[in-house]
Amino acid sequence: MSQFQDKVVLITGSGRGIGRTIALRFGQLGAHVVVNFFRNRAPAEKTAEAIRAKGSQALVVKANVGNIDSLAAMFAQIEATFDGLDIFIHNAASGFNRSVMEQKPKGWDWTMNINARSFLFAAQHAVPLMEKHGGGAIIAISSLGSERVIPDYVTVGASKAALETLVRYLGVELADNNIIVNAVSPGLVDTDALRHFASFEEYGQAVIKEVGSNTPAGRLVTTEDVADVVCFLASSQAKMMCGQTIVLDGGYSLRAWR
Ligand SMILES: NC(=O)c1ccc[n+]([C@@H]2O[C@H](COP(=O)([O-])OP(=O)(O)OC[C@H]3O[C@@H](n4cnc5c(N)ncnc54)[C@H](OP(=O)(O)O)[C@@H]3O)[C@@H](O)[C@H]2O)c1
Repeated sequence: MSQFQDKVVLITGSGRGIGRTIALRFGQLGAHVVVNFFRNRAPAEKTAEAIRAKGSQALVVKANVGNIDSLAAMFAQIEATFDGLDIFIHNAASGFNRSVMEQKPKGWDWTMNINARSFLFAAQHAVPLMEKHGGGAIIAISSLGSERVIPDYVTVGASKAALETLVRYLGVELADNNIIVNAVSPGLVDTDALRHFASFEEYGQAVIKEVGSNTPAGRLVTTEDVADVVCFLASSQAKMMCGQTIVLDGGYSLRAWR
């Protein structure tokens, strides 16, 4: 039997992209999955149907994680349905993709609230629910933009740097509650997120090709690769991991020259 059998797992932003693959993986492993979406209900319902088809429970919850009340309502719904939580994956992200000089305070607030602030306040809701189950695991999805410079990525990059800092603080402060907190920082993954860059039409395919061919491991990171590392960090094998961010990029960011 899988160690995730009957565990309750929340994955924010899990109707599409990386979050969807993580949700499907936990569903396959017998977990009860909370599928969160913000704008796109149809893919979230499809993800939930695919999980139910494998015999696991799936609860679909609409919530804007960047909104404090919406976040609280999502956790209230989880408590009313499952009376606890074992694993929380902070995957949802958004961003105002523009150059430094084109950024506006509204885009900064939007991005920071969804990508970073929500993690801290979601964790405050998650902890009492995890304590009902004797502990748990919290995993954030960061990105290389926390440390490296990616075109038009300044607000997301800053939010991911804040996120990784929060992971360290939560890791230390929650260790005593039997809750482990870590992050995965994937390299480029071919999802809809790439299409949100204004430059995608002109340069997107070239960037995908460049990253794939300059990755020492020989290819782009996939959503399945991310789900593999998330599952490890959620497992009992990772119980001594505390506040770490694991770079998952096939070695792409290690090279100084190509
Ligand atoms: N793709 C990459 O190259 C890459 C690389 C490194 C890290 N990452 C990280 O991996 C995570 C997933 O990225 P992805 O590529 O799968 O992105 P994606 O395909 O654009 O999906 C984003 C997901 O986040 C949800 N979301 C956005 N704003 C939300 C909000 N305010 N509240 C709740 N959900 C919200 C979306 O839900 P709706 O559809 O309902 O709006 C969607 O399910 C992000 O944290 C991203 O930064 C991605």
